[in-house]
Amino acid sequence: MNFTGLTGQIQFDPQKDLIHPAYDVLNVVGTGLRTIGYWSNYSGLSVITPEVLYTKPANTSTSNQHLYNAIWPGETTKRPRGWVFPNNGKPLRIAVPFRVTFEEFVKKDKGPAGGDGKRNPSFNSIVNDVAQNKYDAAVGDIAITTNRTRIVDFTQPYMESGLVVVAPVKETKSSPWAFFKPFTIQMWGVTGVFFLFVGSVVWILEHRMNPEFRGPPRKQLITVFWLVLLTATTSRETRIRENTLSTLGRCVLIFWLFVVLIINSSYTASLTSILTVQQLSAGITGIDSLISSPDPIGVQDGSFAFNYLIDELHVPKSQLRIIKSEAEYVSALQQGPKGGGVAAIVDELPYVELFCLIANAYSGLKQIEAEGVLCLSPCDDAQAIWSTQRLILTVFGQAFQRDSPLAIDLSTAILQLSENGELQRIHDKWLSNNECSSQNNQVDDTVLSLSSFWGLYVICGGACAVSLVVFICKVYCQFLRYDPETEEPEISEPESARSSRRSLTVRVASRT
Ligand code: GLY
Repeated sequence: MNFTGLTGQIQFDPQKDLIHPAYDVLNVVGTGLRTIGYWSNYSGLSVITPEVLYTKPANTSTSNQHLYNAIWPGETTKRPRGWVFPNNGKPLRIAVPFRVTFEEFVKKDKGPAGGDGKRNPSFNSIVNDVAQNKYDAAVGDIAITTNRTRIVDFTQPYMESGLVVVAPVKETKSSPWAFFKPFTIQMWGVTGVFFLFVGSVVWILEHRMNPEFRGPPRKQLITVFWLVLLTATTSRETRIRENTLSTLGRCVLIFWLFVVLIINSSYTASLTSILTVQQLSAGITGIDSLISSPDPIGVQDGSFAFNYLIDELHVPKSQLRIIKSEAEYVSALQQGPKGGGVAAIVDELPYVELFCLIANAYSGLKQIEAEGVLCLSPCDDAQAIWSTQRLILTVFGQAFQRDSPLAIDLSTAILQLSENGELQRIHDKWLSNNECSSQNNQVDDTVLSLSSFWGLYVICGGACAVSLVVFICKVYCQFLRYDPETEEPEISEPESARSSRRSLTVRVASRT
């Protein structure tokens, strides 16, 4: 059969299929019709008529499939979301995580719950159940992650979260020789060599014209190195003016002054950081050092952290240990990797905040350090100090089925709570310790103990003691050699001579 009818050419192949079938795609608007494109076997959906396309090579790629915009009921071009709110009186099925740890976040009452009450539920499973229409929604401490947003709709976040590393602080004894640590041995060596070098140069430049650099070699040596050493301390300008006359000498000392200034400030900064920061180190400087060591890493049962560590950070599954209870949380940290525990726990921030509050209740666990959180117990309760470092930032929200209008309603309610400060108040009530000011904590944190400095005091005290002994010996020797018959009465004499006799004057006074 091959004829031209009302709709164009009609022809069938031997299998009785229409050759070159083509259809108009119509948009029914009210009582009228709009053609928004065409469909043919040859070209698929298109806004160009099939007759024109038949003259061109076939192209059925999806990027080529176009229609004009449809006008939807309600006179809108916005595509309907296709979600019909049930009005058949069936109650909504809202799942809550049946938590075992940190029940402060959400507690099961009655009705559906994710989990068996013996272990924390898998939050991924709860979200999957919502996507599979087992529940209409899930509310609770559900982290909003990329994988989850692919299958459900989340409300606006109601709590800030993220993954942090929690580790116990080791009782690191501050070394009495810590003041040597800012510089390497080479650095100390070079500084010493430069000290001698600059001293020698100043001597060469000065000794011919400056009377202060004359005299017995021992006096000259002392004058030079005393000057170079004092340049590093206060009143530098005064000393330079007093002791050096030549311009070249001053030039050398100004450069030396600059070097000393830089070394001085670097030393101060480095020593400060060694004495404050490193004392709090638990040997874990971050997630990289944690992963690279073979020590077990704890993750809270049910948390997305488990999958995150495996999938994103490529931590071997065998290195992860599931922490199933709060008591285990504490004991794993206390025991450490050598005692059958873990090196650290990677957990979500709000749980760590709560843990910091309750950690002090567990005796023995005085300090907990986290990358992002530091719990100390300078006050009666544990205290959280915040920094910004986190492995990833996430938030908690409620999960709803795709396109559920309830998610929008709940988001609006959450935003209202956020804007009127209620969310912050809830957070502070449950997760902050207001009784212990963070300032106190920080002060305690940076106060340096005597244990860090006793080396210095020993050196300084030793030098004083040796000087005193030498002084006493000298005075004693002079005393033995003293002959009152030959002593001249002290009369007015020039300043230079007076200074050399000062010790004698003191001695005479003491004898009378
Ligand atoms: N807050 C636990 C989770 O969402 O994985």
